[in-house]
Amino acid sequence: MIIRPETPADRDAIRTINLDAFDSDTEANLVDALRDSGTEFISLVAETKDTLVGHILFSPVTCTGDAKIMGLAPMAVRKAWQRQGVGTQLVEAGLQACRQAGALAVIVLGHPQYYPRFGFEPAANHGIESEYEVAAEVFMVKALQPGALDAINGLLRYHPAFPAL
Ligand SMILES: CC(C)(COP(=O)(O)OP(=O)(O)OC[C@H]1O[C@@H](n2cnc3c(N)ncnc32)[C@H](O)[C@@H]1OP(=O)(O)O)[C@@H](O)C(=O)NCCC(=O)NCCS
Repeated sequence: MIIRPETPADRDAIRTINLDAFDSDTEANLVDALRDSGTEFISLVAETKDTLVGHILFSPVTCTGDAKIMGLAPMAVRKAWQRQGVGTQLVEAGLQACRQAGALAVIVLGHPQYYPRFGFEPAANHGIESEYEVAAEVFMVKALQPGALDAINGLLRYHPAFPAL
């Protein structure tokens, strides 16, 4: 299994992964919309034997200051490949890529049983608010630099390509 940045040739396979993992085409369309918007995102794929089985994307979120913060979404592993560690490899490689890109922190709206294992914790603990009305435990943040969360507070907004929840 290798984790690598997406290339233009991966577009259809990434769409297939998102359609397979999610119940609707919302996430597949979101990935295409973010790519078409030209925003500077980090998009990684998990490849095995020339087949793409997983995908993760990070896009910039805005906050009141000028801190560089990335939002993890969406993330998907093809059903037949789930629970075999692919997602873990994608998250770990993605966090590393965000750190290398100079991001201070990553936020995620997701399963509260899944993301804490990577160091995510409720964003509300740090005065960081979601633009969406969601339960506090599903909106999480992870610092990528020491003390980063001290400098971030207030409302974070995803890229406009994200659909209203
Ligand atoms: C969530 C997802 C990306 C995880 O990828 P994966 O390759 O299956 O994950 P890993 O094999 O690295 O980790 C498996 C762990 O994730 C947990 N997990 C998987 N799906 C989960 C879910 N929907 N809710 C909570 N935990 C989940 C498993 O319980 C397992 O935990 P364990 O190791 O303690 O048994 C994948 O299951 C998926 O694509 N799901 C559908 C789409 C989705 O929900 N995306 C995330 C949106 S926030």
